Amino acid sequence: MVNTAQARRLAHVPTPAWIVARMVAALAQWIDPQRPLRVLEPACADAPFLHAFRHRYGTHHLLEGVELCPAHRAEFPIHDADYLLWEPEGGEYDVILGNPPYGIVGDASHYPLFALKERKPLYKKRLRTWHGKYNLYGAFIERSVELLTQGGVLAFIVPASWLVLDDFRKLRTYLFERGSLRIEYVGRVFPRRNVSAVILYFQRGQKGVWLTDGRTETHYPEPLPEQMIRFEDETIRAWERSGTPLGEAFAIHFAARSPEFRRSGLTRPFPQAGDVPVLTGRNLHAGRIDYETCHSGWWMRHEDAPLLRPYYATPHLVVAHTKGSRLVCAYDERAYPWREEFHLIPHFQQDARRVEAYLNQPMVSQRLQAMYRDFVPHLTRTMLARVPL
Ligand SMILES: C[S@@+](CC[C@H](N)C(=O)[O-])C[C@H]1O[C@@H](n2cnc3c(N)ncnc32)[C@H](O)[C@@H]1O
Repeated sequence: MVNTAQARRLAHVPTPAWIVARMVAALAQWIDPQRPLRVLEPACADAPFLHAFRHRYGTHHLLEGVELCPAHRAEFPIHDADYLLWEPEGGEYDVILGNPPYGIVGDASHYPLFALKERKPLYKKRLRTWHGKYNLYGAFIERSVELLTQGGVLAFIVPASWLVLDDFRKLRTYLFERGSLRIEYVGRVFPRRNVSAVILYFQRGQKGVWLTDGRTETHYPEPLPEQMIRFEDETIRAWERSGTPLGEAFAIHFAARSPEFRRSGLTRPFPQAGDVPVLTGRNLHAGRIDYETCHSGWWMRHEDAPLLRPYYATPHLVVAHTKGSRLVCAYDERAYPWREEFHLIPHFQQDARRVEAYLNQPMVSQRLQAMYRDFVPHLTRTMLARVPL
């Protein structure tokens, strides 16, 4: 049994029983349960998926788990191993299912998965989809695809972020090239966890991507390498074709972050004569900037701002990063220093006030919301770059 401390260290959140039941039931679309199947639950903890599988499809299957901290009394053979480094004996699996761990492997100060930190170089070497900070669940998906038979099926509940984040570009391409994906968006199904989830059903050797929320469905028969997976229809596609993508009209910069301000030696916690506050997303409203309130806790000389980012020196458009998939934009006519947020620097002469008014239209946010829901808690550069002007 995993104790609380270990669980926190290894990021254990149990899967709601109705999700387990639903995933196991859905497998009937792809498998022939009359035939004895080799079934694996990675990072299985108490193996809820193996129990549900046996209950629904019978006792004639070969059911196995892999777990870093195996339970004392297991009803199934559980391999005591790190799934990402483990080599199975006896061949591939017809079904791999479960709820892999989520989290970024890193420093204790930032990430809960520091226990695995020393293994990170090994993971990176072993996994070809590892990119950026990556996340353990992406690594678990890749590893599982490798362990599937042709026609074999993977069923995982994972965060929705891989559908759109750049860190998962390689993973998306990897999956598109190897099989078909049916993705059910289920949203915030984990109590008290701030994560929006999808169930991924992947069948090795097929083709195409389907994304559904039970009511609407987007089908990509021929997904392009790296492409984001989003809810889109003809209206959205026509809108995107209707104008120049924002990313072609503007360079999109991400402002200096807290550590840079801290290191710079240019800021202080109390204002001296002539200082201005370092602005944050809380100062940013649709069409309006609050230049007075200091939410960042830092003040600095106005003329020092360009030492951090040259573009702080000129008036320009600022777009909020952390207002969900809502687009909030304002023109910074005073050219203040900013902590975070997107800064749009035009590639050619433009009417910034007109762009500001257009981006703040409810229609723009509604379309972003329709496409990206709450897959991630913020607007990404890629999402912003595709907004047509
Ligand atoms: C069911 S999974 C994850 C559930 C949920 N998605 C989460 O992130 O909390 C949790 C289990 O994975 C195990 N685990 C974590 N990393 C592992 C790894 N690299 N290999 C095998 N098991 C692992 C932990 O010991 C824990 O029992």
